[in-house]
Amino acid sequence: MRAVRYGRYGGPDVLSVVDGLTPPPVGAADVRVRVSAAAVGGGEAPIRAGRLRRVLRQRLPAGTGVDFVGTVAQAGPAVTRASAGDLVWGVMPHGTFGSIAESVVVPQERIAAAPASVPAQEAAALPASGTTALHALTRRGRLRPGQRLLVRGAAGGVGVVAVQLGAALGAHVTALAGADHLSWLGGLGASEAFDHRSTRVQDLGRFDVILDLVGTEMAPLRSRLVRGGTLFPLALDPGRPIRSALWTAAGGLDRRTRLSPFSNDPSPQELEELAALVDEGAVKPVVAAVLSMDDIAQAHRMLERGGVRGKIIVTP
Ligand SMILES: NC(=O)c1ccc[n+]([C@@H]2O[C@H](COP(=O)([O-])OP(=O)(O)OC[C@H]3O[C@@H](n4cnc5c(N)ncnc54)[C@H](OP(=O)(O)O)[C@@H]3O)[C@@H](O)[C@H]2O)c1
Repeated sequence: MRAVRYGRYGGPDVLSVVDGLTPPPVGAADVRVRVSAAAVGGGEAPIRAGRLRRVLRQRLPAGTGVDFVGTVAQAGPAVTRASAGDLVWGVMPHGTFGSIAESVVVPQERIAAAPASVPAQEAAALPASGTTALHALTRRGRLRPGQRLLVRGAAGGVGVVAVQLGAALGAHVTALAGADHLSWLGGLGASEAFDHRSTRVQDLGRFDVILDLVGTEMAPLRSRLVRGGTLFPLALDPGRPIRSALWTAAGGLDRRTRLSPFSNDPSPQELEELAALVDEGAVKPVVAAVLSMDDIAQAHRMLERGGVRGKIIVTP
């Protein structure tokens, strides 16, 4: 089996495709999925660079990629959720990486039927980022029509789904993103959009729910919440990850507003619900580029340069 691996932390060139890997065995309740397409996660570049090594324990050599779309090649005898030949999408077991590979072996709870209305190379933009936005806005945030939602990092992998979902739920969506994306975000459902390089967080209005995908300036961001409002601090500041994690941990002490950090660990029902939202047209995948697995270093370079709209897809 071919898969992307890196054996030391460093720049994008530490990533390479390794051939001849032995696929893990398929347990009774596991499936082996032949990957058609996977996505490069926005948070994976700082992990690969070793910038988060003091807060995230990662054993090297490591794989990359947390989600995938593909065809079930083998199903263990206790599998009830899928059969060989089914087109599925899914996520790696919580906290693990390695979907940028020819195949993955995962427990059956990590997959669901892929949406029928979009090709695999587009759907692959969504399993991890889409369920993150869905979990925040519907399970934890319970966003209601007319509420004000701020999405910070709105043009990135998670942000583009949060903007669409927020609009579909009837919220007034404010997007903070790079200047090139502002009018495009209006078309995606944002009621207003501001350039994050020229807009101070302090100058924004008040919000019922804030989804932060950046990790910096968290105290001024929290001060933009109405009383009883919720901030989802989903990213660590890669420049100060320990400080960032401590700030979030201490955040529960202030009861006027709520902090709701989480690490996305979607249920099969969330993967199914997301597929239904795609098939209904409420959520559209946003693909910045489709690259081959051999170009994985280029994909990480693009991510580090910034300005990527949605997700970079990698095909094995
Ligand atoms: N907790 C969880 O469960 C969970 C799940 C998924 C992702 N995450 C984390 O969330 C973060 C984002 O993930 P992603 O996949 O969406 O990444 P991404 O695709 O790289 O998107 C991040 C976006 O943030 C923008 N940005 C950078 N600085 C900003 C600022 N000061 N204000 C507003 N926007 C700014 C970037 O724009 P430019 O390109 O213009 O710089 C980029 O569009 C990562 O840290 C990831 O690890 C957490």
